[in-house]
Amino acid sequence: MLINYLIPWLLVAPPVIARTGPKAVFAHFIVGNAAAMTPEQWESDIREAQAAHIDGFALNIAPQDSYTDDVLEKAYSAAESVGNFSLFLSFDYGSGGPWPADRVISTINAYRNRSAQYNYHGKPLVSTFIGSGNADDWPYIKQFADCFFMPSWSDLGPAGTRAYLDTIDGAFSWDAWPVGAQNKNVTSDREWMHALSGKPYMMPVSPWFYVNLPQWNKNWLWRGDDLWHLRWEQVMHLQPEFVQIISWNDYGEAHYIGPIYDAGMPDGSSSYVADHPHDAWRALLPHYIAAYRGMNTTDPYQPSQQLPVADKMVYWYRLNPSHAGSANGTTGNNPAMGQEEMMPGQVAQDRVFVSAAVQAASEIVVQIGSFPPTVLQASGPGLNHFSVPFNGQTGPVRIVMMRNDGEVAATVGPAITEECQDGNVNWNAYVGSSD
Ligand SMILES: *[C@@H]1O[C@H](CO)[C@@H](O)[C@H](O)[C@H]1NC(C)=O
Ligand SMILES: *[C@@H]1O[C@H](CO)[C@@H](O)[C@H](O)[C@H]1NC(C)=O
Ligand SMILES: *[C@@H]1O[C@H](CO)[C@@H](O)[C@H](O)[C@H]1NC(C)=O
Ligand SMILES: *[C@@H]1O[C@H](CO)[C@@H](O)[C@H](O)[C@H]1NC(C)=O
Ligand SMILES: *[C@@H]1O[C@H](CO)[C@@H](O)[C@H](O)[C@H]1NC(C)=O
Repeated sequence: MLINYLIPWLLVAPPVIARTGPKAVFAHFIVGNAAAMTPEQWESDIREAQAAHIDGFALNIAPQDSYTDDVLEKAYSAAESVGNFSLFLSFDYGSGGPWPADRVISTINAYRNRSAQYNYHGKPLVSTFIGSGNADDWPYIKQFADCFFMPSWSDLGPAGTRAYLDTIDGAFSWDAWPVGAQNKNVTSDREWMHALSGKPYMMPVSPWFYVNLPQWNKNWLWRGDDLWHLRWEQVMHLQPEFVQIISWNDYGEAHYIGPIYDAGMPDGSSSYVADHPHDAWRALLPHYIAAYRGMNTTDPYQPSQQLPVADKMVYWYRLNPSHAGSANGTTGNNPAMGQEEMMPGQVAQDRVFVSAAVQAASEIVVQIGSFPPTVLQASGPGLNHFSVPFNGQTGPVRIVMMRNDGEVAATVGPAITEECQDGNVNWNAYVGSSD
């Protein structure tokens, strides 16, 4: 079965829900992985994010890290030195326990007047990762550190969060991945939007999820596969006020879209993160983000005239078929969250995924090793998305864009191989693109 999702840039298709808002796009940044980052690396990451049309970083900070203030100072200074890039704080209540309220107050106030601080309705935007057990701290916190508060109390869910509408100014959902062998739909996003009664919603978009860190009792995957393309399509239709990409640099959960810094990888993650760049997931972001923002308000899918003309392909796949080695204890789904335990290979599909921005109808040819190629039709200008099953084929993956019998773009990805490192299937994705 071939999947072809076409975003018709040239067809008029009004969004399902008309919402207005800043339509700002942020990426979740794990400050805990950035202790060793130099000011130059911060500036470089910020420039890379800007090149992808990301507006800013949500800085995830945990209470136990001694270096947090030092890293935050570097981040705000780098953003100010580069310019036109925003930051806001995301208090992580899940690693290292709850944040003391007075430290939340002093941390918000330490950065509230910095020019890189992202403000909404004149107040610094502040978010969380979970932490609903401390929901009652926030009226007090806001009294001494007034802020636009959009927590992610996924531990309460939309209905439970609704009970705090007097305290919160909006919400961010962490529900970015599907459960089981299916694709993510927008049911949970609609529940959040409904629960918020018109207060702004920050919608999560993530490309992947695989974690194997036994020291933190984490060893499961959720389906990535088509997720990166599907979620952006869903963002275009739902038109949330904000989007947050999960994540920029969470190497341990394998959903980073930023560059890999060896020093930032949690112990044990290098066996699945090393040599698995995800940078190319940023290559088509300007197109997705422009379509979301609907720069042409008459036709939200009109591509922006300011974007570089693209004939570009982004591809990703796992280098090991799921049956090729040991699953190393990894489960499909997280049973600790009450989810059905599945084989990881039941959830993650053995397929090559390709997204292509094309100027005009094209053929996309995918060939694994020297097996017969698969020819896919990108039927019109815009963003097209496909996948091709491994079907037992191994070898390098060659992907070519053809138009009028000529090669428009071509790229070759690393070999799909049954030879697994240490006998373990690597469930992380390799991501690449044509030039
Ligand atoms: C600022 O960054 C945004 C993307 O984040 C971009 O759309 C805008 O053009 C930039 N503005 C300036 C003045 O550089
Ligand atoms: C931030 O700026 C405001 C307005 O200038 C000022 O009243 C306030 O004291 C400043 N806050 C901090 C923590 O510096
Ligand atoms: C959407 O996803 C949820 C959660 O996985 C599932 O229960 C529901 O059946 C899905 N809805 C549709 C319309 O597919
Ligand atoms: C916006 O889109 C409509 C419909 O596709 C088109 O007719 C119009 O020319 C576009 N406007 C601009 C400014 O690009
Ligand atoms: C798999 O298990 C072994 C221990 O048996 C461990 O050393 C290895 O790093 C694990 N992780 C991965 C990602 O393969």
